[in-house]
Order: sequence, then C-alpha cells, then structure tokens
Amino acid sequence: MAGRDLKELFRAFRNADELAFRRAANTIIEEEEARHHVALARDLRKILASGESIDIGQGDVRLLPPPTDPDQGWDLATLQHPERYLGNLVLRPAVRTVLTDLAKEVPEWSKLEGLGVPRRNRVIFYGPPGCGKTSAAEALAAELGVPLVVVRLDAIVSSYLGQTASNLRRIFEYASSAPWVVLFDEFDALGRERSDPSEHGEIKRVVNSFLQLLDSYTGPGMLIAATNHEETLDRGLWRRFDEVVEFPLPTVREIRSILRRGLKHVKAEPLPIDEMGTELRGLPHAAAEATAWTAIRIAVRSNRTAVSVDDLTEAVAATKRRRW
Ligand SMILES: Nc1ncnc2c1ncn2[C@@H]1O[C@H](COP(=O)(O)OP(=O)(O)OP(=O)(O)O)[C@@H](O)[C@H]1O
Ligand SMILES: [Mg+2]
Repeated sequence: MAGRDLKELFRAFRNADELAFRRAANTIIEEEEARHHVALARDLRKILASGESIDIGQGDVRLLPPPTDPDQGWDLATLQHPERYLGNLVLRPAVRTVLTDLAKEVPEWSKLEGLGVPRRNRVIFYGPPGCGKTSAAEALAAELGVPLVVVRLDAIVSSYLGQTASNLRRIFEYASSAPWVVLFDEFDALGRERSDPSEHGEIKRVVNSFLQLLDSYTGPGMLIAATNHEETLDRGLWRRFDEVVEFPLPTVREIRSILRRGLKHVKAEPLPIDEMGTELRGLPHAAAEATAWTAIRIAVRSNRTAVSVDDLTEAVAATKRRRW
C-alpha cells in the first residue's frame, strides 16, 4: 500500500469525509487486486459494504446516495438500474464492437494495468438526437451489472455559479466511490452561455475544472459524456477521452430492423416494413421506435389485436408530420 493512500485515508477520517475515505479505500483495494491479493481485496470490499449494495463479483460494494446541492438541496444525480442490454439495441456493427470491447475490458483492468496499459474508462458519445446515446450508456451499465448514475447537469449548472465547480467536484467524488457507469448526459450544458455576460469567465473556469476532474479520474467506474452539440465543445476536450463513439442517424436497414422489433409482439398481417422503412429515411432511431408504438396504439384503440397495413401507413405519416 502506498504511503500516499494511507495519508488520504487518515485525512478523510480526520475530516469525517466518507466519500474521500471510500475513494482512498477503493484505490487501496484496486492496488491489492493488481498485486493478485484477491482474497484480501475481497475481504476489504466486504468490510466496506453495508446498506444498498451491488455485487461486482469480488464482494459487495455499498452504494451511497447521490450528492445534493448545498444551497438548493436538490440531487445532483439519480441512480438507475437499467435492464436493457446492447443486444436490445440496433447498432452499427462498428459501434457495437467498440461498446462490447469496452465492457469486456472492465474485468481485465487490473491485468491490463499490470502490463502498463491504462484502462479505458472515459468515453464520449456524440451524434444527432434520438440515435441511442443515452440508451447505449444504460445498456453498458446493464452489461456490466452495475447501476447507472445519471448526472443532473441541469441541477449542477442552475446552482449559483460559484457553486457549480464545487458541485462538479462532488459528482466526481461520488463517481469515484463505486464501480458504476456515470453518465454526463447532454454535458455540453456545462459550457452553455448564460444570460449574464459577466459570467463568461466563470463558465470557462467551470469547463476547465471539468477537464481537470476528467483528467484525474482513475476509476473505479466508467464515465460517459453524451452530447448532440459536438460542434460547441471545447477543442481541447476530445483528446481527454479514451474512446470517442459516434452515434449516426440509422440506415434504412436499421430503421426497418427497429420497426420489425417494435411490431414483433403484436399479431400483424404481412406488413410492408421495407417500404415503410424507406419512408422514414433520414429520421432517428427514436422516430422508428415511435412509429411502431403509434401503429400498435391505433390498432388497440380500434379494439383490434393485429396491426394492419393501414395502421402502419398512418403511423408513418404521423411520424413524418412532426419534428424530431
Ligand atoms: N440504436 C437504437 N436501437 C433501438 N432503439 C433506439 C436506438 N437508439 C435510440 N433508440 C430509441 O430511441 C429513443 C431515444 O433514444 P436515446 O434517448 O438513447 O437517444 P439519444 O441519442 O440519447 O438522444 P438525445 O441526443 O436527444 O439525448 C429511446 O426510446 C430508444 O429506445
Ligand atoms: Mg440522450
């Protein structure tokens, strides 16, 4: 055990700072794992655990409740337990491979680090709205069997500006307290201009402090930042991530596949899925999914158990009429 970790542990105890204590304790446990002291690492995890906990295959890890804004009292994150897996999503093969590889590496992090290869646990998802960024983060958490922490950036940035940077620090401390997936959804909100131009310098400081926290994050979880405004991001941001994943608009084949999956559980006469998929070209995955739901709603409203060609045609028209 490094002297630095011991000092952290003692300092956290003196300050009665449970998060800092857990972070230091987790670092020590990971170091013991890297030295192949598996039984000791497992026992240490057990000692740390109590209350709501997750089993990560090496003993339980206790889950702390998310941190709150000290002035407003609101939660800075929410905890979810997603059950939709990567196999439930329609993904570009290259995207599926990246995500699967990331998940496969997590249990091998210690081994990789023993070989001098850093873990990949800072990932950015970008692409148009409704193309699966949030869903993929949920699916990664499900694949890893860990909870998903969704950071409420709206809560973080709507706190008093002076508080924003310390709220970010609170979130990163929390992110370091257990091996979960932490999603900074729509994280471009961090650098968004506010109404008061005098706050401009402060916003830059907030973005910089995010970059620093990101740089110094060493685990034990996986951080995912998602945005559909990649053009507004600071140029220095991209290289901070270990993996950059684009979620593009679906191909027509992918749209058809979502339609087929969405209509799988209802009886249906032979439907012109191929043709309807072509009609939806250029729209996001979310639009294809919604089309299937609309078709089913039309059938159910008419007391029918099967979706008809007319139902699907009407649903496609409705999807195309609205904005996505
Ligand atoms: N690849 C996909 N396969 C199946 N369904 C998908 C896929 N992508 C998106 N969907 C569906 O579309 C809806 C919106 O998806 P999601 O919230 O993941 O999009 P997003 O990329 O995060 O959008 P935004 O940029 O607006 O946050 C969800 O209900 C999801 O089920
Ligand atoms: Mg999203």
